[in-house]
Amino acid sequence: MKLLLFLFLTVLINFETHASDFEKALDTIELRKASMQGIWARIKRLAPFIDVDSNLDYNEELAVQDAKDIKLLLEKSKDLWPKSTDLSTRNLTNATPAIWAVEEYFNKLYSKAEIAASNLEIALNNNNWEKVDLEMCNLGNACGTCHASFRRLLTSQLANEASAWSGKYIKDCK
Ligand code: HEC
Repeated sequence: MKLLLFLFLTVLINFETHASDFEKALDTIELRKASMQGIWARIKRLAPFIDVDSNLDYNEELAVQDAKDIKLLLEKSKDLWPKSTDLSTRNLTNATPAIWAVEEYFNKLYSKAEIAASNLEIALNNNNWEKVDLEMCNLGNACGTCHASFRRLLTSQLANEASAWSGKYIKDCK
């Protein structure tokens, strides 16, 4: 009887640590998605401003702030990709298992996005519009390439999302 109780408790404890690891993974997935959405919300108002350079509700100060926020959000989300969140087979994330198969490539694209966001902030601060265009294109390229390789959409999501954040955010990109 004692043995049975012991076994039962061991299984229960195991289950609970497992469950909390699982909860943690789900939280991490939610966090990185929210962060990506935050980045996208900023790109969405920054891109047209860079493109036409005139938007009454927006100005250079806000543009600099958005670029800075994008940089910070990327930085803060860098640790949100542990192997425990490799849960796409259960439809709990759109991140593909490829991330953990070629982690170095994933990290490289991630760094590219961070560098572009950082340079974008500097270029905006310097009113260097040619450089602003270039870095916005570099940033879009990093987002788009990473999503093409590492983010898989469910069929049911395809119709809603189109290619809104696929990568080409301003007209002048090559
Ligand atoms: C190095 C890879 C990488 C980079 C760079 C990257 N993303 Fe993502 N992004 C992902 C992955 C992977 C997911 C799927 C996350 C998930 O479902 O857990 C994602 C998800 C998203 C989502 C959807 C979030 C949701 O609610 O499901 C948006 C929006 C997004 N990214 C925008 C951006 C934008 C804009 C940029 C560039 C400024 C960017 N991302 C840069 C890998 C990246």
